[in-house]
Amino acid sequence: MDRLTTDLAAAIGAAHVLTDPELIAGYTTDWSRRYTGTAQAVARPGTTAEVAEVVRICDRHQVPIVPQGGNTGLVGASVPSRGGVVLSTRRLRRLDPVDALAAQVTAGAGVTIAELQAHAAAAGLEYGVSLASRESATVGGTIATNAGGLHTLRYGGTRAQLLGVEAVLADGRVISRLGGVEADNSGYDLSQLLAGSEGTLAVVTAARLRLRAAEPHAATVLAGLDGITAAAEAQAAIRARVPGVRALEYFEAAGLALVLAHTKLPAPLPRAYPSYLLAEVGGPAEDAERLAELPLLADAAVAVDRAGSAALWAYRERHTESISAAGIPHKLDIAVPVARLADFRGELDETVKVAAPEASAIVFGHIAVGNLHVNVLGPAPDDLAVDEAVLRLAAAHGGTISAEHGIGRAKVPWAGLNRTPEERSVMQAIKAALDPAGRFNPGVLFS
Ligand code: MLT
Ligand code: ZN
Repeated sequence: MDRLTTDLAAAIGAAHVLTDPELIAGYTTDWSRRYTGTAQAVARPGTTAEVAEVVRICDRHQVPIVPQGGNTGLVGASVPSRGGVVLSTRRLRRLDPVDALAAQVTAGAGVTIAELQAHAAAAGLEYGVSLASRESATVGGTIATNAGGLHTLRYGGTRAQLLGVEAVLADGRVISRLGGVEADNSGYDLSQLLAGSEGTLAVVTAARLRLRAAEPHAATVLAGLDGITAAAEAQAAIRARVPGVRALEYFEAAGLALVLAHTKLPAPLPRAYPSYLLAEVGGPAEDAERLAELPLLADAAVAVDRAGSAALWAYRERHTESISAAGIPHKLDIAVPVARLADFRGELDETVKVAAPEASAIVFGHIAVGNLHVNVLGPAPDDLAVDEAVLRLAAAHGGTISAEHGIGRAKVPWAGLNRTPEERSVMQAIKAALDPAGRFNPGVLFS
């Protein structure tokens, strides 16, 4: 064992410091398999004090620290690119009783979103962020990425759920705002600053989270449509007339074909369509009736119970794994104004073809917030031509190069497409103030 590993083992126990290449392989490659690196060790501290100790040791040894939750990120932000130590937060499993009076809960960074949801449900409440990777994605990781997910339309992303964090700073000091005082206007909101900071400013160890009233399930509808223009119109009509709408998700024939091939599920509708819209409605049964009355959804499968709803959701939620089963995708998570979706989509195939003639694009996403996940299969993982072309196309349509996955390492070269030089320099000043030695996640967000 080298000095770094010996010090880590003395601080958190040898059983929680991994160096065996086989054991650390799962921590050094991201979920998409596009980003991989090497680490001297993986440290798995079990308390906030141990996290602080790991951070101090890494600082003393002058090695990078890559904070990691469930490692379900898709932009290379949770795996090392320059060696150092992966600091896994998965053992930070505090989960306090739900504070029913305030509809809040305190959860450790390593609690998964599925565990948090079940905990909230047992108290008759709901956590506002849900995503297909809920069984692995953690509270800490979703704060670091400001994860969006399936109910962003209704509840906002992770930032909108976040009331406070406990976090370890680069010098090992701990900041904590877990008291649950929602009306708190006493200075800079450091917790919100850490949301979406992608592990570059501090290590989040726990969070105080807002919960919502659990909504009764009214209906889930999967409709076949003629294309993205029809889907954009349908989602607008639903939002205008169905107050209880919780999710509006989009996918296309190419993605559905991969899902059917991978999952062996039957086709969802008797005939095939170019585009599909999945709508989930909570609240009173009248909302489901309003949805059914909309002429835009001429051919649709409808589920009014949870099992039927889950069966329809599978066609959407299983896109990610089905695409990955077909290759290593370039995952380009863009958003454009909803009014520009059709124009963007109309130019996308040609743009991809020019950049990568052999490639194909699979498009799905959270249509109500203008967020399309453009997945390109074909180009080698280190070939950036198609990334460049698609991200520039999104920017040209007034959009963003990252709607919910983050910048990570993947999009650093194009970070300036969305942020002005002034904004980037303010971000860099914040980074320098909180992490002057650049210990946390080098190569992520900034080059
Ligand atoms: C999703 O919406 O399913 C996630 O963002 C994952 C993905 O884009 O593959
Ligand atoms: Zn998504």
